[in-house]
Amino acid sequence: MSKFELKGATAIVTGASRGIGPYIAEALAGEGVKVALVARSQPELEANARRLSESGAEVVAFPTDITSAEERRDLVRAVERRLGPVDLLVNNAGGDLQREFHNLTEDEIGGLLELNLTSAVMLTRLVLPGMLERGRGHVVNVSSMAGRVSFPYTEAYAAAKDGLIAFTRVLRADYRARGVSGSTLILGPVGEAGVGARTADEVGLKLPPVGLVSPAKIAKLTVRAIRSDRAELAVLPGPGKLLRALMDRFPALGPAMNRATGTNKTMATVAEYRNREARLRVAEQCAQEGVTR
Ligand SMILES: NC(=O)c1ccc[n+]([C@@H]2O[C@H](COP(=O)([O-])OP(=O)(O)OC[C@H]3O[C@@H](n4cnc5c(N)ncnc54)[C@H](OP(=O)(O)O)[C@@H]3O)[C@@H](O)[C@H]2O)c1
Repeated sequence: MSKFELKGATAIVTGASRGIGPYIAEALAGEGVKVALVARSQPELEANARRLSESGAEVVAFPTDITSAEERRDLVRAVERRLGPVDLLVNNAGGDLQREFHNLTEDEIGGLLELNLTSAVMLTRLVLPGMLERGRGHVVNVSSMAGRVSFPYTEAYAAAKDGLIAFTRVLRADYRARGVSGSTLILGPVGEAGVGARTADEVGLKLPPVGLVSPAKIAKLTVRAIRSDRAELAVLPGPGKLLRALMDRFPALGPAMNRATGTNKTMATVAEYRNREARLRVAEQCAQEGVTR
């Protein structure tokens, strides 16, 4: 495939209200891409759209809950009307509940799979026919090392994120000859912005000073993945690819590392904090509904 010409293309970037998404949107806008910012939080999305538009880029906020089939359909129609046919889709929105798997309800687990896997698959399905018609398109799926390293309490999240890796591989193999391709960014721990940094602030923990990747670097790699049509990029400090290969070859390595680095202890503290929050939410809801337990 020839190099993807970014200038003038239209992109949807999900998860663009906070964390890594705004950096990805900024990097694409900097390449002359028209960017549709997508998330549920309208004020944050609009503020980001205003900030990025100041440099002359065409960036528009489209507040959307991507777990709703109806909202996904409306989103693609609205973006096409406003910015033109969608050439790029960056499925970046995602997140985890950071609680022990056995404490999650079926609805909570379903919600995690919906946010981290199903919505990305379904959004791809919506934009793919147009991309095939024009013989040009690229889908970037943002995945995680969680499954590779057995990151504590991420059972459902990791299942979804590994699902994204498989989805992208097959999509790429099936459609590349017709001009549509896909890349997966497999992220390790991220510093400065995003869920890791926010959790550390909320729970009062310190992120390790080394071993983190910056959101700006992830944004740069997103552009590289599209432009050079890279299949998978393991975004880890140091020899990321090698580390990932070792984890896959030796599945006990991740858990051993989690024990040795104190990750298990840290995540137990986070899970306890999140459990307390969840219990408080239930208690508040019961009080509002006048239910006693
Ligand atoms: N940060 C890390 O250390 C790390 C590591 C590995 C992988 N990742 C992956 O990287 C991606 C970005 O992570 P992040 O750290 O930037 O997370 P974040 O700061 O929590 O941001 C998540 C984004 O997803 C959006 N989102 C959540 N639910 C949504 C929904 N139902 N509909 C539409 N948008 C929704 C959020 O916006 P609203 O709440 O406004 O909807 C927000 O913009 C995720 O896929 C995450 O799994 C992150």
